[in-house]
Amino acid sequence: MPITATAARRNDHDITVRRMDLTFDESTPTYWFDDNPYLTSILNALAIPFPPGERDFIRSVRHFLPQVEDTGLRAAVRAFIGQEANHTKEHIAFNQFLEDRGFPARAMEDFVTQRLETMHARSTPAENLARTAALEHFTAILAHSLLDSLPLVETMSPEAARLWVWHAIEEIEHRSVAFDVYETAVGDEKLRLRVMVQATFFFLLMNSLRARELIKRSDPAKRGLRPALRAANVLFGKPGVFRKVLPLYVSYYRRGFHPSDHDNREVVERAKARYLSEAA
Ligand SMILES: [Fe+2]
Ligand SMILES: [Fe+2]
Repeated sequence: MPITATAARRNDHDITVRRMDLTFDESTPTYWFDDNPYLTSILNALAIPFPPGERDFIRSVRHFLPQVEDTGLRAAVRAFIGQEANHTKEHIAFNQFLEDRGFPARAMEDFVTQRLETMHARSTPAENLARTAALEHFTAILAHSLLDSLPLVETMSPEAARLWVWHAIEEIEHRSVAFDVYETAVGDEKLRLRVMVQATFFFLLMNSLRARELIKRSDPAKRGLRPALRAANVLFGKPGVFRKVLPLYVSYYRRGFHPSDHDNREVVERAKARYLSEAA
C-alpha cells in the first residue's frame, strides 16, 4: 500500500514499501552485468555495504523522529524505514550469492560494519543525520542515472536487474526523507555541506578500493582490454554515468537545494511499468 508523505513537494514521489523475494542461485551468472567483470565488480562494490549502511541510515533518522511533528513527514520516515529494511534483506541475500561465488563479500561487509560503528559513536546525532542525507543524495542520483539507462539495465541478468531497478526506484521515492528530517531537526547548512565533502571523499575512496579488489579476484579469462573499454565507456563516455550524475551531485551545494528540485517522475514511472508491472 502506498504511503504518501503529505509533506512532499511538487516533484516528489509517493513512498511505497514493496516486499520482494529475489532469488540468486545457480541460474544467476557470476558476471551478471553484461558478462563484464569490470561493470559487475563496480556494482558489487556498491552493493556490499548496503546492509550495514542502510541500518545506519535508519538509526540516524529514527533518532530524530521524536522531534518531527509534521504527520506527513512522520509517515514518510516510517515508509523510508520500511523500504530500507527490505533493501537490507535482499542485499543480504545478494551478498551471500557473491560469497558463494568466491568473492569476499562477508569480510568487506564486516569491515564496513566496524567502520560505521566507530563513526556513528564518534559523531554527534546531527553529523550522523547529515551523513545519511549526503549518502542518500548519492544513492538517489546514481539511481536516477541507472533508471535513465534502461538499455544498459537490459544487459543485466533478470533477477539482478529487478534488484537494482526496484532499489533505485525506492531510493528516488524516499530521497527527501533524511534531508527533510535534517532540515526540520538540525538545519545547519554549513554542517550539511562539510559532511557532504567528507562523505564524497570516503564514498569514492572505499568504493574504488573495493571495486579494485573485486576486479583482481574476478576470472582472468573474462578480463581484458575490450571489456575494460566497455566499462570505461559506460562510466565516462557519452552520455555515461558521470556526465549524468555530476550536475546532480553539484546541485547539493546550492543554497536552498532540495532533493525534489530534480523532476524525474517520468523516468521512474517508465521503470516501474517495465520492471515492477506498476501502471503509470
Ligand atoms: Fe536502500
Ligand atoms: Fe535510501
